[in-house]
Amino acid sequence: MKRSASAPGKIILFGEHAVVFGEPSIATAIGMRLKVEASDAAESTFNGVRVERNATPHAYHALNLAGMNARITVSSEIPAGAGLGSSAALSVALVLAMTGGEESEVAARAYGVELAAQMRASPADTSVCTHGHSIFISGRQEEGELWSVAGKEVRWHISHLDIPQLPVVIGYTGIPAATGPLVMKVKRHHERYSIVREAIAEIGQLTLEAVRPLTGGDMVAVGELMERNQRLLSIIGVSSHDIEKLLDAVRKYSYGAKLTGAGGGGSIIALTDRPDKVVQALELRGGKAFVTSISAPGARREEL
Ligand code: MEV
Repeated sequence: MKRSASAPGKIILFGEHAVVFGEPSIATAIGMRLKVEASDAAESTFNGVRVERNATPHAYHALNLAGMNARITVSSEIPAGAGLGSSAALSVALVLAMTGGEESEVAARAYGVELAAQMRASPADTSVCTHGHSIFISGRQEEGELWSVAGKEVRWHISHLDIPQLPVVIGYTGIPAATGPLVMKVKRHHERYSIVREAIAEIGQLTLEAVRPLTGGDMVAVGELMERNQRLLSIIGVSSHDIEKLLDAVRKYSYGAKLTGAGGGGSIIALTDRPDKVVQALELRGGKAFVTSISAPGARREEL
């Protein structure tokens, strides 16, 4: 039997890293997708290579969860390691293809896969890659939430957010960064330094402030909050020279810009009404630019 599913990539608009501690975050699905095909097989393979815990952890844990062996093939428009949700989209598409289920079940199982593969994570990425559109996620209960999911220390509550098509350009530094080690680094800094604890709380506060301008399309206010968020991300230790180089290049054509996702490399996002200028500035500094839609459709089963 053969099954197929796809899921979108994502960008975090506000609150990455802070969300791991239960602070609010806002994430949106992007118009780049990853597609999985899985067919029953005697031995599990991933794009032709035998599935192993260390080499292909997402496939390994998803297959364990589904209790099956499968020949898995993946095709993706989402660059890996770029902070654009390729591993969350993979977890979600694998779970949906192999186990199916309600949106909340798929999201919870995909979070389990991500957590097993990454050690420490919030369900922000897997939730938005499942639901699509845009989400608000926090450790506090919200009215009208879609579902909640428990981790070791936090129970996260996920709500739908209506964000209009804001013109966002993504700039990939070209430096892939693994999320797990960066999340662990922030945990260590959080334990040691009060300035990091304060920065995390402030990121939570400004993310709350961002909901109204984001849903109302107030680009000036959103841009200012992005700049504040970036300064705080830099304080907690996840920005880098390559990120700052791209941010410097796009700032004069943007309402605001920041890193997105785990940082340490990966990608930046710029909110701009001059996308051509931003693309040109990114490319001049060695970045790879992507102009894509936001609030894109969520995970779905695909016809074979
Ligand atoms: C990565 O896209 C988002 C982080 O907050 C990690 C997580 O939430 O698990 C950095």
